[in-house]
Amino acid sequence: MATVLTGGTVITAVDCYQADVRIDGEKIVAIGQHVHQAGDQRIDAGGCFLFPGGIDPHTHFDLPVGETATADDFTSGTKAAAVGGTTTIIDFATQNKGESLAQALTNWHEKADGKSYVDYGFHLAVSDLNESVLEEMATVIQRAGVTSLKLYMAYKNILQVDDSTLLQVLQLSRKAGLLVCVHCENGDAIDVLVKEARDKGYVEPKYHAFTRPIIVEREATYRAICLAEIAGAPLYVVHVSSAAALQAIEEARSRGVAIYGETCPQYLLLDESCYDAEGFSAAKYVMSPPLRPCANQAALWTGLKNGALSTVGSDHCSFNLVGQKDLGRSDFSKIPNGGPGVENRFGLLYTQGVGGGKISLNQFVAIASTNAAKLFGLFPGKGTIAVGSDADIVIWDPTVHSVISARTQMQKVDYNLYEGTQQIGKPRHVFLRGRNIVTDGFLNDDAPAGCYLVRKPYSAGGEYQCSGLI
Ligand code: URP
Ligand code: ZN
Repeated sequence: MATVLTGGTVITAVDCYQADVRIDGEKIVAIGQHVHQAGDQRIDAGGCFLFPGGIDPHTHFDLPVGETATADDFTSGTKAAAVGGTTTIIDFATQNKGESLAQALTNWHEKADGKSYVDYGFHLAVSDLNESVLEEMATVIQRAGVTSLKLYMAYKNILQVDDSTLLQVLQLSRKAGLLVCVHCENGDAIDVLVKEARDKGYVEPKYHAFTRPIIVEREATYRAICLAEIAGAPLYVVHVSSAAALQAIEEARSRGVAIYGETCPQYLLLDESCYDAEGFSAAKYVMSPPLRPCANQAALWTGLKNGALSTVGSDHCSFNLVGQKDLGRSDFSKIPNGGPGVENRFGLLYTQGVGGGKISLNQFVAIASTNAAKLFGLFPGKGTIAVGSDADIVIWDPTVHSVISARTQMQKVDYNLYEGTQQIGKPRHVFLRGRNIVTDGFLNDDAPAGCYLVRKPYSAGGEYQCSGLI
């Protein structure tokens, strides 16, 4: 049976208009005023916005880190995504040292397949580059529908790559139609600063931030951009946290270089004062890059508004405060890095961005969904409301207000970074490829319906599409 969403206002990255949306099977088949046919099921969307399902381009589910692993796996992480209005996630399949990329992908399929409540794709996070891995990059991963890579300039002796590796991967990415994502912090400098702090007996969580100052992010961002320019390759800078790093991106973009920036809700909404929290609870905010002085937030919002930043990813990388973060109780450098956010990314961006008058409804859709679809080879199947697109639709009721709390969240972690924060609006329904998976905050079906997404190469329309990022 086909379904018609009636009386809502369709919001895309460019349009706002009242129309009914007819869904047949997995696709949107008609949009207009009189699109229903005899026998169609009708769902009232009066007073609501119809948004394309959110796309979170940055999650870490079931990621082993040191002697532990993230609290959320694909089951809990994608349930949380769904109830929050996100219907696609792109997770980082992370290569272990000595492992082939094909093996890393197999590992991630084992973690995700049959367990995901939203659609999912993988970026490949490369930690160990050699000749055969370079060869795999050119062929294997693209065949597997993985058209983006991630390299880390931080986490010395674990994930960090040197400049020569980064440059070679960028050169190859250009030829192979891959988009390289980079974690921009100078890992060597951080290593020195951490050793100095520990030698002085500074062990509390706040020293995580002191040992990763803005300049290590600014320098690495600038360096990565220079390497991308040398290679003539596009670059996606993940989790931009500071005005200084953003400035490096803006300057490159004004030279016409294809540099794309992502920021995260935590850098838009939280600041370094969180590290003053009593006792060890400041460990909740130990993430990389760390939270910054408040003044950076306005710059990041401006970057989203003027297009210097293209996306907001959650960087969901959750660890329980009790039993995981507290591995670093007597040494901040042993606190697993990262925080939760996949459930709240969409709602917070709407609340603070649209509700706070910082971005328009169209910009919200672009940042929360469309731009990620374009950059990562999913558009127009995902990221918009159009005839022929997947029926990934959020019926968003802007009149419902709620309060974010760990007590009521789907995320399987013992805290929420935004505890007590008011959210404006909530999904009344979430559709994943035509299937009504969420009603009034509850999952409708116990069976995970998420599918693996084979993504198109960046070069297949990427340059053209990405020049149209909003
Ligand atoms: O602290 C963070 N962000 N942890 C997740 C891994 C990464 O650096 O993106
Ligand atoms: Zn991350």
